[in-house]
Amino acid sequence: GQKIKQNILMAAAVRAILPQRSPDAHKGMNGRVALVAGSRGLSGAAAMAAAAALRAGAGLVTLAVPAEIQDILAVKLTEVMTRALAETASGTISQKALGEIASLTKDSDVLAIGPGLGRHEDTVAAVREIVKTAECPLVIDADALYALANYTGILTECAALPVLTPHPGEMGLLTGLSAEEVNGDRVQIARQAAGEWGSIVVLKGAHTVVAFPDGEVYINTTGNAGMATGGTGDALTGIIAAFVGQGMSSHDAAVAGVYIHGLAGDIAAQAGMVGMAATDLIKAMPAALYGMKN
Ligand code: APR
Ligand code: MG
Repeated sequence: GQKIKQNILMAAAVRAILPQRSPDAHKGMNGRVALVAGSRGLSGAAAMAAAAALRAGAGLVTLAVPAEIQDILAVKLTEVMTRALAETASGTISQKALGEIASLTKDSDVLAIGPGLGRHEDTVAAVREIVKTAECPLVIDADALYALANYTGILTECAALPVLTPHPGEMGLLTGLSAEEVNGDRVQIARQAAGEWGSIVVLKGAHTVVAFPDGEVYINTTGNAGMATGGTGDALTGIIAAFVGQGMSSHDAAVAGVYIHGLAGDIAAQAGMVGMAATDLIKAMPAALYGMKN
C-alpha cells in the first residue's frame, strides 16, 4: 500500500521554509492580503485576523467588512485598509457585495474569508460564490466553513489548493460527525477530508493536525491551553494568509503558520497562561518570527 508520511512538526522544518526578508524589500513584495470577515457584533474577529496578517509580515492588508462596521475597524486598525461591503438587514455581507469582492481579489495575492461572518442565508450564498470564483488562493475559516457544509464538492473548483482551518466543531459540521467523534480520530479524519475535498485541512485544537490531499500529515508541537480563548483562531487565519502573500506555497504557509501561531502563543503565555488574550498572541508574532532565525 501507499506509505503514509506523518511528521511531528518541529522548529527545523519551519526554519527551512520561512521566507527570508530581502534587505531591499518593498511592501509590494511582501504580499497583498485581502480579508472578508466580520458582521454586526463580530467586528473583533475581523480585527484580529487582519492584525495577525500584519504581524505575520504582510506588506499590505485590506479588510472588507459589512458597511455598518467599517468605521469601527478603521479606528481599531491603523495600518489596515478597509472596504465597505453591501450588507443584509442583520449586518452581515450580502450577495450584492460579490462584485466588490471580485475586484478586491483580483488585486490581491490571497483571500482569507470567514472570521465573524455570521450565518445569514444570503451570506452563506455569497461565500459559496466566492469559493467557486475567487482567482487567488483562499484561506477558509469559521462561518465560511459553515457555509460549505454539504457543499465541500465545490472546493475542487478552486483556482488554487485552498486551506481550511476548522476547529473540531466546524470539522463536525463539514463531516456530519460530532466534535467528540472528530477528536477521537483527529489524524485519520483530517487526512481523509483533505483527500476528499482536494484541500489542505488544518484541524485545530491541542496538537493541531495539518493534512494534505496526498495523505501527508503534520502534527504540531507548539501552543498551549492559554490559547483556548476567543480570537486565537481568527489570528491563525490571518497568519496563514500573510505567509501565502509572502510567496510561500499554501502547503508551506499552513505548516509554518500553525507552528509560528503556537510559538507566539507560547511566548505570550510566559506572562501568564491563564488570562492571556488573542491580542497578546498577535503582539508576540514578531518575537516568534525573530526567534526562528536563531
Ligand atoms: N492547546 C493548544 N492550542 C490550542 C488549545 C490548546 N489547549 N486550545 C485552543 N488552541 C488553539 C487552536 O489550535 C486554534 O488555533 O487556539 C485556536 C482556537 O481557534 P478556534 O477554535 O477557531 O477559536 P476562535 O476562532 O478564537 O473562536 C471564536 O470562531 O470559529 C469560530 O465558531 C468559532 O465561535 C467560535 C469563534
Ligand atoms: Mg475560529
